[in-house]
Amino acid sequence: MTAVQRASEPVIVNVGLGERAYDIVIGRGGLASLGSRIAALKKGASAAIVSDETVAARHLGAAEAALRAASIRTTAIVVPPGEATKSWSRLEEVCDRLLGARIERNDVVVALGGGVMGDLAGFAAAILRRGLDVVQVPTSLLAQVDSSVGGKTGINSPHGKNLVGAFHQPAMVIADTALLDTLPKREFRAGYAEVAKYGLLGDAAFFAWLEQNWQDVFAGGQGAGSSAREHAIAVCCRGKAGIVSRDERETGERALLNLGHTFGHALEAGCGFSDRLLHGEAVALGMALAFGFSARKKLIAPAEAERARAHLAGVGLPTHIKDIAGGAPGVDELMDLIAQDKKVKRGKLTFILVRGIGQAFVANDVDASEVRSFLAEQYR
Ligand SMILES: NC(=O)c1ccc[n+]([C@@H]2O[C@H](COP(=O)([O-])OP(=O)(O)OC[C@H]3O[C@@H](n4cnc5c(N)ncnc54)[C@H](O)[C@@H]3O)[C@@H](O)[C@H]2O)c1
Ligand SMILES: [Zn+2]
Repeated sequence: MTAVQRASEPVIVNVGLGERAYDIVIGRGGLASLGSRIAALKKGASAAIVSDETVAARHLGAAEAALRAASIRTTAIVVPPGEATKSWSRLEEVCDRLLGARIERNDVVVALGGGVMGDLAGFAAAILRRGLDVVQVPTSLLAQVDSSVGGKTGINSPHGKNLVGAFHQPAMVIADTALLDTLPKREFRAGYAEVAKYGLLGDAAFFAWLEQNWQDVFAGGQGAGSSAREHAIAVCCRGKAGIVSRDERETGERALLNLGHTFGHALEAGCGFSDRLLHGEAVALGMALAFGFSARKKLIAPAEAERARAHLAGVGLPTHIKDIAGGAPGVDELMDLIAQDKKVKRGKLTFILVRGIGQAFVANDVDASEVRSFLAEQYR
């Protein structure tokens, strides 16, 4: 017998940004409400869905049906999946196709996909007609807990990742947790690194909850523990919403969201942004290194750093340099990449370090030579 999947009561998290405030709607089956929610937000608006081929094959039909049910005129723009799509040429293509579909100031762009679609479609919306509303419908775990919230949009340049972009807050985020059922396991696990990040950076009780409940978060679905995934995503969104509402433009506290990302970006770049190391995997390894480095600096007890690492390793994420498939980039290469990523001022680097689980802080006087010695120890 096949049970009819019914939408559970969604959890709504508000991002408090004054006249740019918006709701994140979190729950299983939320995609079905896309049309009625857009209609309530903007009467008479048309919509253009921007998606990648992989996501479109699985979820575009349902998104279009939800819009049609609310009598919303829709167009779909489908581009290839993958990081290479965050490019000038794809941006141009998406912009031209949005204009060709007669998307006007009162209409909405719907970004249906992972962080790549959210960043690309969000940026196109930011610059077309001096700003169109974008509704984010994140379909990867990473996008549901991180990239769809907070308004950072953009594309990559040959000079580096995310170097061309704009802050453009969405008008609404619909995080339908059922969409994650089609996400490859490895992508889900990589996104989980960002989930754990919220606990590790500022919420020790949430981290302890994850240690107990991560299997239910991974399982999702309708059975026992079925609301664990929604709970985890809601906690992350509440955490990010709070940080973004206090520091929208990253002049202070928002930098804490970069826990694990300085080491992580260097490792990702050192692996050529290939599928040898996904972003979330690099972040997991980067967080393990940030905890290890904090322990080396005697900021945190070694056992506490090991507890953080052990959880990440326990869910199957890489936590040692040696875990990188095909070999890790060398220390010199990593140090060069770290120096490119973060400006080195008189031999000092800025890092997010920890005084405990849930106690991250910005350290802007870290000795580059100390980082180098620490990294060199990791290859033994
Ligand atoms: N704007 C921000 O604040 C922010 C924050 C973090 C990351 N990002 C950006 O996000 C991007 C990474 O996001 P991502 O990990 O979601 O990558 P992604 O968008 O490339 O998605 C990962 C892969 O999963 C597939 N996929 C997505 N949802 C699926 C589903 N439901 N079923 C089956 N397959 C699905 C995609 O087609 C893709 O192949 C990077 O470009 C990064 O720079 C942005
Ligand atoms: Zn990240």
